[in-house]
Amino acid sequence: MRETSRLVVVSNRVAVPKARGAAGAQGGLAGALNAALKKRSGVWFGWSGQEVEQQTGEISTQTTDGVTTATIDLSKRDVDEYYNGYANSTLWPLFHYRLDLAEYERETGKGYERVNERFAQMLEPLVEPEDVVWIHDYHLIPLGERLRARGLKNRIGFFLHIPWPPTRLFVSLPFHERLVRTMLHYDLLGFQTKEWLESFLHYCRTELGAEVDDDSGAVTLEGRTTVARAYPIGIDWDHFSALGETGEARQAQQRLMSSTRHRTAMIGVDRLDYSKGLPERLDGISRFFDRHPDRVRDLVFVQVAPPSREDVESYKEIRALLERKAGQINGARSEVDLVPVRYVNRGYSHAQLFGFFRASKIGLVTPLRDGMNLVAKEYLAAQDPKDPGVLILSRFAGAAAQLGDAVLVNPHSPDDLSHAIRIALDMPLAERRERYEKLIGTVRDDNVQSWTEDFLRDLDAAGAR
Ligand code: G6P
Repeated sequence: MRETSRLVVVSNRVAVPKARGAAGAQGGLAGALNAALKKRSGVWFGWSGQEVEQQTGEISTQTTDGVTTATIDLSKRDVDEYYNGYANSTLWPLFHYRLDLAEYERETGKGYERVNERFAQMLEPLVEPEDVVWIHDYHLIPLGERLRARGLKNRIGFFLHIPWPPTRLFVSLPFHERLVRTMLHYDLLGFQTKEWLESFLHYCRTELGAEVDDDSGAVTLEGRTTVARAYPIGIDWDHFSALGETGEARQAQQRLMSSTRHRTAMIGVDRLDYSKGLPERLDGISRFFDRHPDRVRDLVFVQVAPPSREDVESYKEIRALLERKAGQINGARSEVDLVPVRYVNRGYSHAQLFGFFRASKIGLVTPLRDGMNLVAKEYLAAQDPKDPGVLILSRFAGAAAQLGDAVLVNPHSPDDLSHAIRIALDMPLAERRERYEKLIGTVRDDNVQSWTEDFLRDLDAAGAR
């Protein structure tokens, strides 16, 4: 990595310092990038999160700890078409294999392209010739090509934080070719796992007729080559594990422990999103209670689920469904002194989550599809090595490729989930420790710092045009 080259990070959301701290609700991306930017003084550009009547064409900047955040506002129409529309009602469901939920509207597609063009227009004057530009996630796929169209010759990389779907699904996207062709203007493309990478390479070979070198990840089309590789993202280990020493984490741990007493706490922490498999998770828990009515008193399930993307219809529906299911289980299984499911619609700080994870002897991470899933890694990082809890992990989370020693489940099967819960509840200490020992090295060593270094090293090596 050339220490002199400044880093410009671009993502839809930017964690402006005053907004930091709500990491539990923000998902993994914000925390990960924060750590990366502190290392190389840089600029983080994106949407302010504000919706305005009339765009002003202004950029708000703020510099804290050597990191400058530069944000722009978007009009209501832009937010509707680009964020709620194309990004979260078309690309997100499609990339998470949910063709049934994906909407294809020409207007939102145009809005997506318009906002990407606006990002390019506003960002261009901030970029200096030697800067390395790193663009993130599905909101901004065409941005690199838009910057190239403005003459930028910098190294530009792109990282996709979510899955890449199989070709047979992906081709249901109108103008899919146009979108993927824009990606070939990046110097480097990063995916979370080999599986998503291979799907992408398959698409390039079969649909675009590109020349693909599977070993190096080089994709060549019309004389231009871009390199695509897998870079599994990790957590900020040093920061996260140090939280265990804080009063806030200890208090949170104590609070959960004292309220569950002789019962085993089992925890799930997820943005309220249909990709996370929450109704299926509740079905699995319900099945467990049906099969083992004598164990209702042994278990408390705590589901933390901060609401997300609330203007999108499918998110309203999943929220209503979860309320119903949690209510049904509790209605059927509660006693005057016992409520089996605690369903909480709010976010917590990372320190509090650390405490909750440590107090929970089972961590349930059962998405139907997930790019990586950092909650799985945070749950493990919060465990007491002498008496660790058990991670139950969906085999369809990107994290499963690295965390094969967790109890892996098929989240679609209530029987499989119920069985895994029983295994986890009864798992002897020796086996818990053995599994933990096998898992924790990856969580500690393949962290967000090494992820950043790996990606930026390869981006630098890609060479300027
Ligand atoms: C996922 C995405 C991120 C996104 C986050 C929170 O992790 O990969 O790009 O920022 O969800 O979603 P939101 O729509 O609130 O930004």
